[in-house]
Amino acid sequence: MASSSTNARLTNPPPHLLSTPRPSPTSVANLRLPAADFPLLFKSNLFSSAELSSLRIRSVPVPVVFSDRRLLRSMKSSNVYVASDSMETEIGSQKLAKNPSLICAPVMADSVDKMVVETCKAQDLGADLVEIRLDSLKEFNPLEDLKIIIQKSPLPTLFTYRPKWEGGQYEGDEKERLDVLRLAMELGAEYIDVELQVASEFIKSIKGKKPANFRVIVSSHNYESTPSVEDLNDLALRIQQSGADIVKIATTAVDIIDVARMFHLTSNAQVPTIGLVMGERGLMSRILCSKFGGYLTFGTIESGKVSAPGQPTIKELLDLYNFRRIGPDTKVYGIIGKPVSHSKSPIIHNQAFKSVDFDGVYVHLLVDDLASFLKTYSSSDFAGFSCTIPHKEAALKCCDEVDPLAKSIGAVNTILRRQSDGKLLGYNTDCIGSISAIEDGLRRSSDPSSVPSSSSSPLAGKTVVVIGAGGAGKALAYGAKEKGAKVVIANRTYERALELAEAIGGRALALKDLDNFHPEDGMVLANTTSMGMQPNVNETPISKDALKHYALVFDAVYTPRITRLLREAEECGAITVSGSEMFVRQAYEQFEIFTGLPAPKELYWQIMSKY
Ligand SMILES: NC(=O)c1ccc[n+]([C@@H]2O[C@H](COP(=O)([O-])OP(=O)(O)OC[C@H]3O[C@@H](n4cnc5c(N)ncnc54)[C@H](OP(=O)(O)O)[C@@H]3O)[C@@H](O)[C@H]2O)c1
Repeated sequence: MASSSTNARLTNPPPHLLSTPRPSPTSVANLRLPAADFPLLFKSNLFSSAELSSLRIRSVPVPVVFSDRRLLRSMKSSNVYVASDSMETEIGSQKLAKNPSLICAPVMADSVDKMVVETCKAQDLGADLVEIRLDSLKEFNPLEDLKIIIQKSPLPTLFTYRPKWEGGQYEGDEKERLDVLRLAMELGAEYIDVELQVASEFIKSIKGKKPANFRVIVSSHNYESTPSVEDLNDLALRIQQSGADIVKIATTAVDIIDVARMFHLTSNAQVPTIGLVMGERGLMSRILCSKFGGYLTFGTIESGKVSAPGQPTIKELLDLYNFRRIGPDTKVYGIIGKPVSHSKSPIIHNQAFKSVDFDGVYVHLLVDDLASFLKTYSSSDFAGFSCTIPHKEAALKCCDEVDPLAKSIGAVNTILRRQSDGKLLGYNTDCIGSISAIEDGLRRSSDPSSVPSSSSSPLAGKTVVVIGAGGAGKALAYGAKEKGAKVVIANRTYERALELAEAIGGRALALKDLDNFHPEDGMVLANTTSMGMQPNVNETPISKDALKHYALVFDAVYTPRITRLLREAEECGAITVSGSEMFVRQAYEQFEIFTGLPAPKELYWQIMSKY
């Protein structure tokens, strides 16, 4: 009972990417499509509409696939799909194959010549197809210009002529707009995109005229939010009913948890579906398509030249996130923070994963509420996280089990999901990362008095002034105290400085008193606040004059690598240790926790030396 596969794809999938049904990203058990629970396929000639209605489809925990579109009219449900002849569906032998996702480069230019140049760039960068945004052209002679673009584009073409009312730039006559799309089809375009509002009429008008390898994408855009799972499914169903070959739904992420609903849609879809969530909080929807069954993602040719908010570049998809390595079984890791886009963790972890052939992808996760994020992405697919500002203390509370060191510090920067029972385990790798970086800095020092003996820590007996009492501050203060240092905590919120000082047995200082604090010379200063971090590169937590009392100055900030604090400390003659030294060390500790494999430390140093 297999339907024929006419899904001629543009790339040959590597064997490991040939998919079984996508795992669900949510914790809701009945939203899952595990390997054993296959969609129910109803052949239209076996059941009447009335019989099917009585099935109460909404209570069926797996998707229900109809081989006949007619039946849907009486079966409006969020769990119903129509089997399309454009994908391989074989129920019974438990085979439901979907191909890996494609990368589509949006091409927006004001002239046809520029568009052609862009299509060549897209090919060079590694895209699979180009979306020609006709509404960006200043002058447009449809017959001539479409021919040129189709003939000269080295990649398959998708034509979109987006009207203002759907977020595009076209303001002219509707009939003319749709005539242009029909013409693109006749001239050999592989795809056209038409908006749901006009799709039924349009598709009727091309009935019987569609070339064999031509597909209609019917799209719907929501620039404000992401609807519920049920509403998304209903929308997908309406799009299918319009006669779409490919469903496209683009919504907006108000919170990163919105993306789970889109993953649910694409992972359960029985027709090719493009499901993308716009905005920075929706970024992972654009990266994880091959894992969760999305037909394609958009990758821009140049950074910032986006056709919708949140699109990564083709280069980022391919080189940073290793898009072609992602498949249904790939485990998802990521850096949880707010802000988070500056983080270099995805660069180093993804390269490290690739170097040891570990099936994982590491993404940026802009998270507002850690508890709701972890509750939503609670499946084993989401296997581990790094935590940065402002979530390290909340992470401690969210973990089921916390490593004793992290518990003592009071902050978790690494979360591992134990695969056997799904429990969240919390660790702290900031402590070892920052302390070993400072110790190595002191050992490199030409001042012999800073190295008490080869066996003990060069921090022993030193006064270490820690600026900040957040996650990194706690880790560093705790570690320095353990090494025998006299620890002073200076923090913007004095109460937090006091609390930390009391916890570790140190002294507290208000940040405003830091400039006048110099009980001795040769102290160690460690900034663990975000002051001086991009974009606030002119900020510094202490006056240059006060830096003369310090033998070594460490800055946890690593973007930029040389902060104003480090520059001024160097000018004052102090040894400086950059946050990137800590970053590499804490990162390779995380790699070992995530993968259980020895970290490729040399590679980590090599990668970070470029930044
Ligand atoms: N190099 C690395 O590997 C590494 C690792 C971890 C962290 N870091 C960096 O360390 C910094 C802190 O991270 P975290 O995770 O510890 O963050 P966190 O837990 O949110 O703590 C932030 C700390 O910075 C202080 N702070 C924030 N903005 C400030 C401002 N404008 N003026 C004065 N103080 C300010 C806060 O003071 P209040 O208590 O008054 O709010 C708090 O003490 C970040 O820049 C992060 O990128 C680097």
